[in-house]
Amino acid sequence: MSETHHADYSNYSENISKEEMLTNVVESYSALAYGIDNWVANLSNCASLLWHGYHSAKVKVNWTGFYVVDPKDSTQLILAPFQGKVACQQIKIGSGVCGAAASTLKTQLVPNVNKFPGHIACDGETQSEIVVPILDKAGKLVGVLDLDCLTLEGFDELDQKYLEDLCKSIGETCSW
Ligand code: SME
Repeated sequence: MSETHHADYSNYSENISKEEMLTNVVESYSALAYGIDNWVANLSNCASLLWHGYHSAKVKVNWTGFYVVDPKDSTQLILAPFQGKVACQQIKIGSGVCGAAASTLKTQLVPNVNKFPGHIACDGETQSEIVVPILDKAGKLVGVLDLDCLTLEGFDELDQKYLEDLCKSIGETCSW
């Protein structure tokens, strides 16, 4: 009998479709967060699930991660667990794609970041982006999920649907 490991959650089958992968990510997140409400632990594993999942589905993500509302200054977001290259630490609520998602509480699906007024280029190679707000059980903003892609139109409504489900689950499973 082969032994199972936590890292197995980051393994996806060859040629997995994007929808299957996203279904897996949502289910794996719930399984991993079962009995664990620490947001650092849960968001860290979630960033890994998304990084490996999207790469397995052949979407060229270059950043999968989170910003949370800064506990020292609620007018800004601060860098939280992620996978990818070093990123901006602080983003004003209202600025850039992350700040727009945080101020409107609406998902920002950006097919071409060069056409998004005020986009913050943490990495000049990013071409498209999706940012989903995360609310706690009381409906208060606690952070955002941010995915960046090296190609134009890297994300669509299918991503939006599953990532919104994921963020709902994140908001409810973590203690903020
Ligand atoms: N591009 C984002 C900044 C965060 S990085 O992409 C990781 C924005 O415009 O808010």
